[in-house]
Amino acid sequence: MGKKFVIVGSGSSYTPAIVDVLLHRKDDLGLEEVSLYDIDAQRAERTGAYCKLYAAENFSDVKVGYTTDIEEAFTGADFLFVQIRPGLNKQRETDEKICLKHGVLGQETCGLGGMSFALRCIPAILEIVGKAQEICPDAWILNYSNPEAMISEAIYRTYPNAKALCICDMPISQEETVAEFMDIPLEELNFKYFGLNHFGWFTGIYDRSGRDLMPALREKILADESLHMVNAENAANGDTYWAEMYDHVLEGFRAYPEYLPLCYIAYYYFNKEIVEGMDPNYTRGSYVLDVREKRVFDECERCLAAGTTADSSIHSGVHGNYIVDIANAIINNTHERFVVNVMNKGAIGNFNHDAVVEVPVYVDAAGIEPVAVGYIPQFHKGLMEGQKAYEKLAVEAALEGSYQKAIQAVLLNRTIPSYAVGKAVLDELMEANKDWWPELK
Ligand code: G6P
Ligand code: MN
Repeated sequence: MGKKFVIVGSGSSYTPAIVDVLLHRKDDLGLEEVSLYDIDAQRAERTGAYCKLYAAENFSDVKVGYTTDIEEAFTGADFLFVQIRPGLNKQRETDEKICLKHGVLGQETCGLGGMSFALRCIPAILEIVGKAQEICPDAWILNYSNPEAMISEAIYRTYPNAKALCICDMPISQEETVAEFMDIPLEELNFKYFGLNHFGWFTGIYDRSGRDLMPALREKILADESLHMVNAENAANGDTYWAEMYDHVLEGFRAYPEYLPLCYIAYYYFNKEIVEGMDPNYTRGSYVLDVREKRVFDECERCLAAGTTADSSIHSGVHGNYIVDIANAIINNTHERFVVNVMNKGAIGNFNHDAVVEVPVYVDAAGIEPVAVGYIPQFHKGLMEGQKAYEKLAVEAALEGSYQKAIQAVLLNRTIPSYAVGKAVLDELMEANKDWWPELK
């Protein structure tokens, strides 16, 4: 029997590229069917009809369908790719603007924008994982939904035995960018890494001969202030946001040259300066709505109106490849290495064993084998402990409906300067999100 893949939250602009990768790799994956599931019929139809047409024109032996019926979608599934966004990018934008109006970071996963997103997403994701345990308990759940740091805590805590793996494409995107910067093919490099989701560091970059290139990279970056790191894929799309983020990677490395920070670390190292440079009237969410999402959705509609996807400009990139690579490692028992979010259980020896961490793991048919990172330095450990305490309290606030835990999480978040500011932001976010958040009492 061939494999059935389900995309949960298939109305997303990321779907056509993921489906493209699945179809191109259908033989490796033994792919028989792709079911595109979304709770929003209109959104399910737009990307669904596009993917169906694309498959019919190019890979007619694979069945592609779309539905708003969870039973139909999950029945017989082997893999669920979960990428939901309750409130859509519109609510992301609203949250970002509320935060920035109060002078604090407005961002979808970091700062209180991330906490708000977690409160929207956790109830929905737990319902989905619960349904999967009933309908397709043997299916692997690969979660891409954000904010992954807190979603992974909620999933692993609530369903410790589920076949769920929580992933993020940022480490691999940054590895790709660093490889380009060093002008060495990514396949020839092995990155050492530890942290939390959107809160980590690369500690070593080993070449095929086993030599660590990090010291040479450090020397180069410290010696030349004019260097830039550019992600070719994003640059090709005219998206300058990531170029700025990668400039912060260099800046962060110069400030604390022990390990190369993941770009999201900039929101903490350089919080004040970055917030001052953000426009409270036009956020990243505004750009995604106006440009990135619109480009994909317009292209779906244009192809559907033309009756062909032959000249489609939608291409797959690292995001689609990464999730399919992990599924492939499970199906074909490849024992490949990926950076994912797992329960620590000693992987980082001197960090809370009951906390989700982001570390390299080997993936095969039996599941995952995390790499033992060892002991981490006090500086990184201290930053991570504060962040983890915030994440855990935010998750508990969502699970227990506790305002007290929410306000504690707020003060633990490094982007919040005081109780008064934090409470004002939390209360305004709560009001703006009352359709999604659990009630906090
Ligand atoms: C990276 C992160 C994702 C995040 C995305 C935001 O890929 O790993 O977690 O969702 O960036 O991109 P956007 O274009 O929506 O700002
Ligand atoms: Mn991510």
